[in-house]
Amino acid sequence: MSTESKVRVITTHVLSEMKFRGEKISMLTGYDYSMARILDAAGIDVILVGDSASNVMAGYESTLPITLDQMIYHATSVVRAVKRALVVVDMPFGTYQGNSKLALNCAIRIMKESGADALKLEGGREIIDSVQRILSAGIPVMGHLGLTPQSIHKFGTYVVRAKDEEEADKLVEDAHILQDAGCFALVLEKIPAKLGAKVARDLKIPVIGIGAGGGVDGQVLVVHDMLGITQEFSPRFLRRYHNLYAEMLGAFQSFIGDVKSGDFPNDREQY
Ligand code: KIV
Repeated sequence: MSTESKVRVITTHVLSEMKFRGEKISMLTGYDYSMARILDAAGIDVILVGDSASNVMAGYESTLPITLDQMIYHATSVVRAVKRALVVVDMPFGTYQGNSKLALNCAIRIMKESGADALKLEGGREIIDSVQRILSAGIPVMGHLGLTPQSIHKFGTYVVRAKDEEEADKLVEDAHILQDAGCFALVLEKIPAKLGAKVARDLKIPVIGIGAGGGVDGQVLVVHDMLGITQEFSPRFLRRYHNLYAEMLGAFQSFIGDVKSGDFPNDREQY
């Protein structure tokens, strides 16, 4: 394979051009090879190897337990599948908070071992040393503000963030701090639509929302939620495009029935 054919079509530069011409950016999470192949074939712009893998792949209640090695495993599987989309990987909890040297080491491990294109970190001014250090190594960084699930123990709940003026002002300042540091894009999670639109208007970099309204530059959802594989998670911002839980349940029940009855395998399904 030539070096040229390894360069993916969607780059951070392409995302910035999309914002400039008003073309919305599509982003979904992906954690494994098979799903990432379908996402890429569908033409998704960005695949986020989210630390939501901790919830939907590993069954934990929060994103905190997932490890660096586990994130690298998910990211490597996704990168192997993808030809077109930009692959962004979440830095897991504990790899960048309060220690920018550790942050750089972990960032380099993810980039080297997975072949991903960029990293995402949650937080604003309190993690800016880590953001700057990672950027100084030439690694593109996507910010994440609003509801930041790695801080769930600080917030105490997953309710809408930045509804009051003080928190909204801090969010706007943090968005500027991240842009000025050199982040190529920003995710805003679960904040009022008006605030999302204001940040997207203010910033030159693309702002991608999840529960941040329609005035931002793109949208992201967790793939298991939008496919209806997860059932219990039903926030207002989630649009379900399928009820894959029911479809899969039906398929599994049919298989079980066919095995029990001896219908599977039939004459044409054996050697
Ligand atoms: O981990 C994740 O899936 C995310 C999205 C919710 C943006 O960070």
